[in-house]
Amino acid sequence: MSTILPSDHPLVDGRTAAAPLVRASRGERSAALPVWFMRQAGRSLPEYLEVREGVPMLEACLRPALASEITLQPVRRHGVDAAVFFSDIVVPLRLAGIDVEIVPGRGPVFADPVRDARGVREFAARLRGESGGDLFAPIAEAVRLTVAELGATPLIGFAGAPFTLAAYIVEGGPSKDHLRARSLMRAEPEAWHELTTAIGEISAAFLETQILAGASVVQLFDSWAGSLSRETYRSSVSASSAIPLGRAATFETPGGERVRSIHFGVGTGELLADMHAAGGDVQGVDDRIPLDEAARRLPGVPLQGNIDVAALFAPEEVLREHVRDVVRRGAAAPAHIVNLGHGVPPEADPAVLTRLVEFVHTLPGEGLA
Ligand code: CP3
Repeated sequence: MSTILPSDHPLVDGRTAAAPLVRASRGERSAALPVWFMRQAGRSLPEYLEVREGVPMLEACLRPALASEITLQPVRRHGVDAAVFFSDIVVPLRLAGIDVEIVPGRGPVFADPVRDARGVREFAARLRGESGGDLFAPIAEAVRLTVAELGATPLIGFAGAPFTLAAYIVEGGPSKDHLRARSLMRAEPEAWHELTTAIGEISAAFLETQILAGASVVQLFDSWAGSLSRETYRSSVSASSAIPLGRAATFETPGGERVRSIHFGVGTGELLADMHAAGGDVQGVDDRIPLDEAARRLPGVPLQGNIDVAALFAPEEVLREHVRDVVRRGAAAPAHIVNLGHGVPPEADPAVLTRLVEFVHTLPGEGLA
């Protein structure tokens, strides 16, 4: 079952159909390499700190004009090849009435962690009961406002993958090894299945809202999947990640071009083939594995990544040499979207990011030999 995108969608009316990032997501190279940064909107930017002053994180996400302004800030400043929608992986849960806050310096904290089969049943029933209707109206509005300003620059929509979200929901907050979530997975496989299916559905609905309102590409963040073995990823995680990724792929232009997606995780070198099998057109790669090795593991698949965040703090020539190496190795993939291995840290100097974008744009789009 596919859904045709509306006639004023940027992929349909032609605004973003030939953007380097969109072309790369289809496996095509352009004259220059597309580059954007995870967490490009955020505390590294003084203009972000200014507009966020006194507004809690999740509230900022639910004010359409503010979320749109924050999304546009890094595009104006750095000239990146894509905007990434300013929101958070827990926003759909909050809109479904789940009591979650983002604690500065810590991350998402849930008032009522889900610890057992009974908790799962209640949580899942709540998500199912709340989905549909205009639940995501502020998200659709923020995306529309943003896309109206972006012109030929594509907007990347995103959602959290079920495992990464469950790691917070079961623990109640950030954890190092996601032990409680991984224990629930083993101790109560049916409850785990119900929980991750319900999260997969709400993340799918969150992506759908962003796509219909004008996102040209989407990314699924499975940031913590690197704590899983291949075996557990395959048996207990892959099917629920396939729900949002599969949903995104059902949207297409009247000419039959599907909406493409990027599938990303941290420390997932061993899982790349399994993640790609779960879904996604482009595989995101963190800096722990070089792109030529990733390309060997995923022949024919466009890749995104994987500049070491730490190199942003090194002398400029050291950073450039590292970026040249990343681009050289990325030439092993059919197409390459340049990004960091993970998000921009708040301490990063935005001037370094702006110069990095300029530098990437001087390199040949087919990659360095
Ligand atoms: O990339 C972008 O610029 C788009 C916006 C975005 C945010 N969160 C904004 C945000 C995206 C894509 C996310 C996804 C997200 N949120 C992930 C997956 C990506 C990743 O980094 O692995 C995760 C794990 C979360 C959960 C979360 N939200 C954490 C761990 C934190 C950091 C808490 C802190 O203060 O250090 C957040 C808050 C958050 N989400 C911020 C931003 C800009 C910082 C909030 C602030 O500025 O006060």
